[in-house]
Amino acid sequence: MNELFRKLLFLPEQASTIAKDVDHLHYIIITTTMVAATLIFGTAAYFIIRFRRRSETEITPKVTGTFGWEALFVGLPLTTFLVWFFMGYHDFVRMQTPPPEAMDVYVVGKQWMWKFTYPEGPSSIGVLRVPVGKPVRLLLTSRDVIHSFYVPAFRIKQDAVPGAYTQTWFEVTKPGNYRVMCAEYCGLKHSEMWAEVVALSEQDYESWMRQQREGDLVTRRDATPSGPERERSLLPARQAALYDPQEAHGEVMYAERGSLAERGERVAAEKGCLKCHTVDGTEHIGPTWVDLYMRRERLTTGETVVADEAYLTESMMKPLVKLVAGYEPVMPSFQGQLEAAEVAALLEYIKTLRSARLNDVESKGP
Ligand code: CUA
Repeated sequence: MNELFRKLLFLPEQASTIAKDVDHLHYIIITTTMVAATLIFGTAAYFIIRFRRRSETEITPKVTGTFGWEALFVGLPLTTFLVWFFMGYHDFVRMQTPPPEAMDVYVVGKQWMWKFTYPEGPSSIGVLRVPVGKPVRLLLTSRDVIHSFYVPAFRIKQDAVPGAYTQTWFEVTKPGNYRVMCAEYCGLKHSEMWAEVVALSEQDYESWMRQQREGDLVTRRDATPSGPERERSLLPARQAALYDPQEAHGEVMYAERGSLAERGERVAAEKGCLKCHTVDGTEHIGPTWVDLYMRRERLTTGETVVADEAYLTESMMKPLVKLVAGYEPVMPSFQGQLEAAEVAALLEYIKTLRSARLNDVESKGP
């Protein structure tokens, strides 16, 4: 039934844990609207013929006692909309809440490519490798304009905004290559801003990651035999001739020394963060970074905020907008001073400064 509907509606394959639920809701909405439209137009047509004016002198009798029908015509659509709403709400919450055990990957969009950085250290352009059957949380940002990370086969789409972090997550259900598109018009080559998610078995992923971490420290270009060829085969012939897989799709790997957190430690020292923030738990000019990640902070405005990736990034870019209560407003903005990769490295460093005793947000109330 699912397959029949999917083919009938020309939907892409379902390769993530949420894809079936998203489609399921789609089928229900399509079916109910089509049934409703048929009933409404059918009834209207019947009424036009059955109750047409038959002579010049004919006068329509006054209609009374229709309360039951009116209640039905209000109640039925209302119930339908409420069912849609609660199903949609349920799916939406699930799509917006990454499982706590999800692995993180940092994603930077820029005109016109996607770059992925793993907390273990390596970065790649054009290809995101993930294990099958494990939730992956993407932390997205952009270096220039707003892009949107869209994987049709996973049914996920999330904007990447410069100077801010957004997140999305997915869990791939079968190994394979899945196309990533940009879904926000971002300039001349928006339509070519492609990447690929390569879903590997957990074992293959682990050995690939090990290879990347132990590999030599030179930039290299790996051919992904299935990737570009597969892309080309999907294009109409004229477009395929214009399409340069190396440019649009060549995978560029950067193996860098140390993990992302270790790079963050270097960035913190270079950019002067540690002049005001400590990493030993003592208080100085700004809040200590020990146990800062996911801490609930009270702001000067009286609101509370959880120090997640989005808030920490906002504090680097616009530090005075949501200032933590009890500190002087002296932090400078790092907008334009920190590259996206450096922000990701700092975030990973701050995350590692989380002591074991603090494992959930709720344990430390306001
Ligand atoms: Cu990036 Cu459109």
